[in-house]
Amino acid sequence: MKGLEIAPLKDKRLVVLIAEKEYNEPFWITEPPSAPHYQMLCSLFQPSIAFHKFLDTLIEKVNPNFATEELGMRSEKEFYKDNVLAQMFQNNNIPFFPVDIDGNAKTYLASSLDKKMESRDSILKSLAELSKQKKEKYSVEKEYLVAYGQCLQLEIDEQEREVSFSTRESWIVMGIMDHAREFNVEEEITCLHICSPEHVDGIKKLLESVDVQVEVLKLSKKIVSAHIDARSDDLGNLLQSMQIQVKPVIKKKSPHDSPYLLFYLDTDERASPFDICMAYDAGYNAVIPYDNVTPKDAEKIVQDTIFSRGPKAVKHTCFFIGGRKAEKAEEVLKAVKNSMFPPFQANVIIDPGGAYTTAAAMVAKVEYALLSHKLGDLRDKSCAVLGTGAVGQVTTVLLAKLGCNVTIASLNPKRVDGKEYAQKISALLADRHKVDVIGVFAPTPAKKLEILKKADIVFCAATRGARIIDKELLNELKLLKVLVDINAVSPLGIEGLELKDDMREIIPGIFGIGALAIGELKHKSEKEILRQARDNGKKIYNYNQAIQLARKLVRKEIYPAKLTLTLKYPHVKTDSR
Ligand SMILES: NC(=O)c1ccc[n+]([C@@H]2O[C@H](COP(=O)([O-])OP(=O)(O)OC[C@H]3O[C@@H](n4cnc5c(N)ncnc54)[C@H](OP(=O)(O)O)[C@@H]3O)[C@@H](O)[C@H]2O)c1
Repeated sequence: MKGLEIAPLKDKRLVVLIAEKEYNEPFWITEPPSAPHYQMLCSLFQPSIAFHKFLDTLIEKVNPNFATEELGMRSEKEFYKDNVLAQMFQNNNIPFFPVDIDGNAKTYLASSLDKKMESRDSILKSLAELSKQKKEKYSVEKEYLVAYGQCLQLEIDEQEREVSFSTRESWIVMGIMDHAREFNVEEEITCLHICSPEHVDGIKKLLESVDVQVEVLKLSKKIVSAHIDARSDDLGNLLQSMQIQVKPVIKKKSPHDSPYLLFYLDTDERASPFDICMAYDAGYNAVIPYDNVTPKDAEKIVQDTIFSRGPKAVKHTCFFIGGRKAEKAEEVLKAVKNSMFPPFQANVIIDPGGAYTTAAAMVAKVEYALLSHKLGDLRDKSCAVLGTGAVGQVTTVLLAKLGCNVTIASLNPKRVDGKEYAQKISALLADRHKVDVIGVFAPTPAKKLEILKKADIVFCAATRGARIIDKELLNELKLLKVLVDINAVSPLGIEGLELKDDMREIIPGIFGIGALAIGELKHKSEKEILRQARDNGKKIYNYNQAIQLARKLVRKEIYPAKLTLTLKYPHVKTDSR
């Protein structure tokens, strides 16, 4: 018999979208309470047209790697043959698998129940005989038999519940994990699981316990337009007059779960309200800010937190490391990581001064803009990063890791040691991140022009309120280029570029992306990181995770919550003959 073992995936991330069905898939371990009636109802257990259409739209947008559904009392043949969902997944080329308790395991569990049921039935028989023999209502034997019978019935109910819920849900989750393991996908696998309402919470909890990211979608349906003439008995009119709005409702966590806490460790003098507000908006129940945090402080804060919360609640705990200086934040990260050990591991986010998510958003945005404007692959481009702060440095690292030729430039006219400083930056990036980039000092228009002419893509990451490329410089550029600016404070980094520009041709052949177009993606990415880091523990979210998420968001992959469709009866063409 197959063993029951649920193990996390190695080297891959699994995302399961649980779509809650409109009914509980029939299942019983021994026999249904009133079999014929139940059997008759089973034929009515089918997804409605609204559910079916909603799933069709969902899979078109999310494109899961595979889908699963409980088998219930159906045979595998019935599962594929009589299931409208199986047809739909087949049409969309999505592998679809039944997942449920193993047949042998079910028989084994049922046989242990059979013995108890036999004993209960013999007690019922004895009780019936006793009633025939004795006229008086009260008898000691009867009392005892009733007590034994009740006890057995309670045990049977309890065991049936155990098999139908906890055991069966474990098999279902093992089935999902096993199918996910079969997929040879590099990083992330998405499964769409069609689930009975009564199993949603149990399956979600089990999946989360093995580090799976789970999102639950439940359909809400309402009539959005109906001009029904109450007197009309024309079915066609009735169907044509109605529209149902179908949209998913993302299920919130149960009130019994431990609260989501975020400890905000800022290395600056004052903890920034930016990340604190973002964390509340992402659903944390409390955000606890600390400022002026040193690695020593971090050790104490982390250990006092993880020990007080314990292995279970630590999964609902996140440490967020902020502060304008990336080096200081990285030191704190080291201390946080060293202070945790299994099973006391919380998620950790590091985003000093928003630099990691901002850099990730810049790179993901440009990557996508080039592809969607058919301007080639970012990896093949020469890039110039203007600005050597945290945003400039991380942007440089991400681009170099992609395979681009990168030059990072200090433009600050106040620097006296500019040349040495720029070389020091490239040496530092080589040492810390193993990337090979050129560091130059370009404080004058002539030096800037040299860099601009050589680059296909220019990322402006200089300090806020500093104009670094003016119209005169722009007019000198002849070849097609994409220019990005992240400074949102006037004067903006590039003359003529507006905050909301998103690949606007600012002068012939020069396309610009403004600070708000980048900022919007940065904001969404940070929110998604915060949301993902609420559960599960153990993960470190740095710029590598930020770029993955920003890429997905820019391709609009993470948005099942926004999926709303309107169900309309198809218009029937009248025959003109
Ligand atoms: N939209 C968002 O969500 C978001 C988030 C974070 C940051 N940002 C923006 O991103 C930009 C970079 O931020 P950051 O934290 O990496 O760095 P930063 O500390 O604000 O400054 C970046 C660099 O600007 C250079 N600089 C200073 N004065 C200059 C001048 N007069 N002319 C030219 N360059 C000058 C400095 O270069 P040297 O090193 O050579 O002295 C410094 O390294 C800023 O504009 C910031 O506002 C936006």
